[in-house]
Amino acid sequence: MTYLNILILLLFSSSLSSYSYELIKEIADFFLERTSIRPKIGIICGSGLNSLADHITDAEAFEYESIPNFPVSTVEGHVGRMIFGYLEDMPVVAMQGRFHYYEGYPLAKCSMPVRVMKLVGIKYLFATNAAGGLNPKYKVGDIMIVRDHINIMGFAGNSPLQGPNNPRFGPRFPPMTNAYDRHLVRKARKVVRDMGIENDVHEGVYTCLGGPNYETVAEFKMLRIISVDAVGMSMVHEVITARHCDLTVFAFSLITNKCATDSSEEDANHEEVVMVGKSRQAICGELMCRMIRELAAEVQEKNGTK
Ligand code: HPA
Repeated sequence: MTYLNILILLLFSSSLSSYSYELIKEIADFFLERTSIRPKIGIICGSGLNSLADHITDAEAFEYESIPNFPVSTVEGHVGRMIFGYLEDMPVVAMQGRFHYYEGYPLAKCSMPVRVMKLVGIKYLFATNAAGGLNPKYKVGDIMIVRDHINIMGFAGNSPLQGPNNPRFGPRFPPMTNAYDRHLVRKARKVVRDMGIENDVHEGVYTCLGGPNYETVAEFKMLRIISVDAVGMSMVHEVITARHCDLTVFAFSLITNKCATDSSEEDANHEEVVMVGKSRQAICGELMCRMIRELAAEVQEKNGTK
């Protein structure tokens, strides 16, 4: 083998293994050495939904810039910090600010924090996002409990699991038939009824496109034909990464705009997305807290501590 071949091999392998198991473990250890909180649930706050993390008590925050080998969030409306603490007495870690493909990060890098949270000890991933409502029944400000997703970027051969598989995270060919935990979806239905918001909450199918541009009318029409209910620019790769390492997933989308299926309708814009997020953060926060309370009660019951 020539020196040139070795160099090419090294360059290639370093880009593929830039987030090796060892490196991700190092990032997880960074947290474990600095906090005594051992979270059971990881939360990802979507655009405009950062205040979901404001409910966290005994909070210990780590700015992304201070975490070794961590990417930084470049989107307006997204701060960048990881918060350890308690929600409804349940130890949690929340990401305020996530990483998007359109920021120039490969999907594996966008979803790398999910693996960090796994190695920190979480069992559940609760993900939220802002999304355009494609289902004509959805109104701006509604919530969609995610029942399933369509991985359109995966259709084009782009996956966070591309490259050599590390079985310490999960299998080479992970199933996705139960990506969004059915039991948690049922629980969410009950929580929504308890909150009296069932008229503003739906259950549906989410898809993620690469962005950063919003979609054309023809694209929205095509997505509707394949039964997509809400469109965003995140989360699907995080959920795939979470299921690969056997985390139980619950997710909901806040509908921040209606997708225009006619060119005379209003354009989507980021300011509206962030504004609607902020105006609905209290209700989203309550849904999140109640879900965690229900889950905590169930876990206690299972462990016989109740
Ligand atoms: N399309 C894609 N992503 C989005 C939208 C949308 O309409 N709204 C919020 N995120």
